[in-house]
Amino acid sequence: MAFTFFFRDIEPLNHAVSFLMNVASGRSRIRIWDAGCAMGQEPFTLAILLAESMNPFAFRNVQIFATDWDPPLLEILKKGVYPWEELQRIPAELFQKYFQPVEIEGQFRLIDRIRRCIQPTIHDLLTYTPIRNGFSLIVCKNVLLHFQPQQRVEVIRMFHDALEPGGIFVTEHTQKMPEEASHLFEQLLTNCQVFRKIEVTT
Ligand SMILES: C[S@@+](CC[C@H](N)C(=O)[O-])C[C@H]1O[C@@H](n2cnc3c(N)ncnc32)[C@H](O)[C@@H]1O
Repeated sequence: MAFTFFFRDIEPLNHAVSFLMNVASGRSRIRIWDAGCAMGQEPFTLAILLAESMNPFAFRNVQIFATDWDPPLLEILKKGVYPWEELQRIPAELFQKYFQPVEIEGQFRLIDRIRRCIQPTIHDLLTYTPIRNGFSLIVCKNVLLHFQPQQRVEVIRMFHDALEPGGIFVTEHTQKMPEEASHLFEQLLTNCQVFRKIEVTT
């Protein structure tokens, strides 16, 4: 269930970063939630994309909350060390820039600047309680498909509550927005599941 890899399904992440640059530039803090992050490959990919899109000073304001309900997976993320076989899809120039060899042969660690912006946190999405509010971006890919339809709707409602006004939500391309939650989000692209929060008045 924790299958993942660096630079997986990169198109929606690239779009999300572009939208984020529009809404969050000049902010003193940019909060992102990667929900169901497995061993960290996805939040680290996101951090690299952001580091490439922002000046180093602005990048220091990025905080990525990387959550999963499986503690051993987060232990791998905390170390930030991965074998070379898992890093081969990363564009060569980005690999050179953001990874350093460690003492164990064939293993590489993300540089401190990237690891520093990641906040690993144990969290079960099915509690329907967000880790905090005020996120500019929430990424939850290849997780919702494991839930029952009603659980999916509740989790998406929770994401809506946890996003700031105009915040972005990204999921995988095979995951359609459930009818019951479609009034909460505007789909920004026809070919990617990238959505903007709609304010709803109760
Ligand atoms: C297939 S991985 C997806 C990893 C990454 N998001 C990606 O797309 O490559 C699914 C992850 O969801 C996590 N997960 C499943 N149910 C969860 C829950 N109720 N709360 C939090 N994480 C959960 C699993 O532990 C696993 O790490």
